[in-house]
Amino acid sequence: MRYFITGTAGFIGFHLARRLLAEGHEVVGFDGLTPYYNVKLKEMRHAALTQYPAFRPVIAMLEDRASLEAALGECKPDVLIHLAAQAGVRYSLENPGSYLSSNIAGSWNIIELAERFKVKHLMIASTSSVYGANESIPFRETDKADEPLTIYAATKKSMELIAHCHAHLHKLPTTAFRFFTVYGPWGRPDMAYFKFADRILDGQPIEIYGEGQMSRDFTYIDDLVESIIRLSAVIPGEANRVADPSVETLSHQAPFRVVNIGGGQPESLMDFVETVEKALGRRAIRQLLPMQKGDVPRTYAAPDLLRALTGYVPQTRLAEGVQAFVDWYREARSEIRGG
Ligand SMILES: NC(=O)c1ccc[n+]([C@@H]2O[C@H](COP(=O)([O-])OP(=O)(O)OC[C@H]3O[C@@H](n4cnc5c(N)ncnc54)[C@H](O)[C@@H]3O)[C@@H](O)[C@H]2O)c1
Repeated sequence: MRYFITGTAGFIGFHLARRLLAEGHEVVGFDGLTPYYNVKLKEMRHAALTQYPAFRPVIAMLEDRASLEAALGECKPDVLIHLAAQAGVRYSLENPGSYLSSNIAGSWNIIELAERFKVKHLMIASTSSVYGANESIPFRETDKADEPLTIYAATKKSMELIAHCHAHLHKLPTTAFRFFTVYGPWGRPDMAYFKFADRILDGQPIEIYGEGQMSRDFTYIDDLVESIIRLSAVIPGEANRVADPSVETLSHQAPFRVVNIGGGQPESLMDFVETVEKALGRRAIRQLLPMQKGDVPRTYAAPDLLRALTGYVPQTRLAEGVQAFVDWYREARSEIRGG
């Protein structure tokens, strides 16, 4: 199969591309290597992918429509998986414009060109942040998600709506995934687990927001990749409608579906800190801080639709996943920091 993946120098795109390449597929990886976090780490990820002859990197921005069109025209992919985005909840308070540009204008180029090049399945990455401060837990795809608390969430929800409309107008099969706090080796330095590990290793205090009372549904990267690969074979349409109508989100107007990818096992931030401490074999200096603007108190996925569609739900235990991250980071830290 031929895959076109955006965001391959990023955390999730890298892992997905590596798995597909190892299975013998062809992958074109499109990424603008944005400076949102350490570009050295992004280059290291692409360098690791380039060891596979079937990988072709294209370094350009989503907003550069001519480059995107040329790359897609040359690749003619079966499946297009759109992961590139301006991610991160906190940074959207500082620089909201970059979210509008990457996640709306950039995603629009992807959505429109996916139809032009007749991909069989377009898959786009959204986020659990679209549920905002919903109080009904766990978060179900059928719940209202109309009260986002950050520009990040608002741009992702907008992308979902634009993709739905486009799928209706052009009958382009589209799956939007909502990811729940993904972690693991080669992870993102702006995320809490990465910052905690860094600061604990440096003997610096760690900042714990929401006084440690917030909880997150953590998803281990290999489980996320497994879920995406299984979902790629489940093309939205009547033929793939799930038997239980109470969990199905297949649109009545379009071959479009929203799916949560999370394990449905939220952990409190305090327990999470203890898990990181155990994996590192060091105690953290804790600095408890109130919740920040835009923080949501908890994320908690209902994984029933994912299970119904793929027979699978994320299952790696937190201690095991955090240990894998820590083992990788101890090895890679000096190279990443040297960049
Ligand atoms: N990691 C998580 O916990 C999580 C949770 C929910 C949703 N997501 C979503 O999953 C996707 C992948 O996330 P990630 O954790 O791998 O993030 P990441 O920041 O590591 O990767 C994103 C990649 O996209 C590239 N990029 C950003 N804007 C671009 C643009 N305009 N043009 C071209 N390239 C651009 C960046 O250079 C980066 O390599 C994103 O859409 C993100 O919003 C991630």
